Amino acid sequence: MKPDIKTIDDIKEMVNQFYDKVKADETIGFLFEEVARVDWETHLPRMYEFWNMVIFGEGGFIGNPMAVHMRLNVRHPLTHQHFARWKSLFYQTIDELFEGEVAEQTKTKAKSIASIMEQRVTIQPFTAELSIIKPTSHQS
Ligand code: HEM
Ligand code: HEM
Repeated sequence: MKPDIKTIDDIKEMVNQFYDKVKADETIGFLFEEVARVDWETHLPRMYEFWNMVIFGEGGFIGNPMAVHMRLNVRHPLTHQHFARWKSLFYQTIDELFEGEVAEQTKTKAKSIASIMEQRVTIQPFTAELSIIKPTSHQS
């Protein structure tokens, strides 16, 4: 029986192991290493804060993840395959380390956030276009 996610140290371990997988991954690793050229020394602590907020409702995460991923999508289009891979590596990491109610909730939260992010990031250009078309057709 594995432990559940209980402390900030558990979150740090989860995040560290997740990004070790991400960096080495054929499908999404290059988005972090080559497209965004992530500075891991600043990114990892931000991610501890993010997950501490989402899992325990604690801490001072300040950021704008939606804007960050929209910008990334402009530099390199994000696809359904990228998000599917992100989720699969995230679930794998949790399942390797933890087991229990919080672990299950964390996978559910990640899945919900990822699916909203995927929709907004990948469908945004289409809806932006619609909002331009709408007022025009209204005037005529
Ligand atoms: C296709 C999937 C994804 C890719 C390729 C991706 C990639 C990235 C990259 C490159 C950054 C910027 C890091 C930096 O330069 O500092 C970032 C930031 C971040 N990502 Fe993702 N990400 C993905 C999905 C997700 C999902 C599903 C979540 C949440 C469940 C998430 C949460 C975050 C957060 C919280 C930040 C920090 C935002 C900020 O600094 O305001 N990402 N991501
Ligand atoms: C890309 C941006 C974000 C999206 C799409 C998003 C979406 C969501 C969704 C759908 C949930 C519910 C998950 C579930 O229970 O199934 C959730 C939970 C949560 N989010 Fe976000 N979120 C984002 C960014 C943030 C940021 C920046 C913070 C804090 C600064 C935050 C704090 C939380 C917290 C504390 C919860 C847990 C609430 C609970 O346990 O009921 N989220 N988020």
